[in-house]
Amino acid sequence: MASSQDNTLQAICYKRGSLRLLDQRKLPLETAYLDIRDSTDGWHAIKDMVVRGAPAIAIAAALSLAVEVSNLDPFDGSISDAVSYLIMKLDYLVSSRPTAVNLSDAATKLKEVISKASDTASEAKNIFQAFIDAAEIMLEDDVASNKAIGSYGADFLYRHADDGSKKFSVLTHCNTGSLATAGFGTALGVIRALHTQGVLKRAYCTETRPFNQGSRLTAFELVHDNIPATLIADSAAAALMKDGRVSAVVVGADRVAANGDTANKIGTYSLALIAKHHNVPFFVAAPLTSIDLSLSSGQEIVIEERSPKELLHTRGGLGEQVAASGIAVWNPAFDVTPANLISGIITEKGVITKVDTEEFDIKDFVQKTAG
Ligand code: MRU
Repeated sequence: MASSQDNTLQAICYKRGSLRLLDQRKLPLETAYLDIRDSTDGWHAIKDMVVRGAPAIAIAAALSLAVEVSNLDPFDGSISDAVSYLIMKLDYLVSSRPTAVNLSDAATKLKEVISKASDTASEAKNIFQAFIDAAEIMLEDDVASNKAIGSYGADFLYRHADDGSKKFSVLTHCNTGSLATAGFGTALGVIRALHTQGVLKRAYCTETRPFNQGSRLTAFELVHDNIPATLIADSAAAALMKDGRVSAVVVGADRVAANGDTANKIGTYSLALIAKHHNVPFFVAAPLTSIDLSLSSGQEIVIEERSPKELLHTRGGLGEQVAASGIAVWNPAFDVTPANLISGIITEKGVITKVDTEEFDIKDFVQKTAG
């Protein structure tokens, strides 16, 4: 395992007044950081997928605005000017990418912090300071919740392995590791925890076309951590499960509805159908900030469609042309896996399971585990 000062896998490098984001479009061949001076830089870094992954998107957005207001001195506006300024910028940042709920969830919580601070503030900079403090806490909280997800997930898999096996091979999709979060990762955090506990036989990661988060980012993290791992083409997953080489599938989430329907990287729904067909347990690993209780089912989730260039060219649209000119393209970035295909949802408060139904009662779980 790499030493702690090694920040190869650190997507977000922050200290008060300065934010640098690892340009994930260039990984794994090049490690380059971009200086993010304000929310406009933050918005573009999210839209262009310099930073990606639901938790990392939310944290990078909040910290880009924290850097902006840290360096805004003097701000000669009033307390209510400072409040409106932050709310306007947060709404702007939320418009960068629509599917991952973590970003809008963070904006809602930060607006509550701002409004509470305005009750006691004596000047505008008190509002900005309250905002900066709250944004910085998101960084720490995310790592802590990912480590909890990892341990709950590993324990659950270990205790519920119905074939009594003591070593697991886990298939994952997209990138849900340190690069998609503030550290450790969600689904990849479960794989890390299984490896640390000595019960991981092998991790399999899909390429995750068209942006190749699996082959470029997940493979990079698994090799970095010396975790036994194999990369497969997205289209090879069915054959791998048919061979009985997968004990469980563990994926991340961008938005989980109240019934458990889950939006995640395009291709996740296919994996869930294949897992169901081959009786392979299929888990979603996600922090509670990825759950949107305002949606009763996945039908209401807005699915981002991205540039055709991502399919027509290599390197997520930045490389050479590979597809025939003139062909039409449909490039949804996410799909929705219905709750009836999901065995359990691994969160930082424990694993949500179904009781005698095809759906999850997440509202009940959140109420029971609140505080
Ligand atoms: O388009 P991306 O790379 O932002 O998509 C990322 C995913 O779908 C992840 O699985 C999800 O955001 C969870 S990241 C912990």
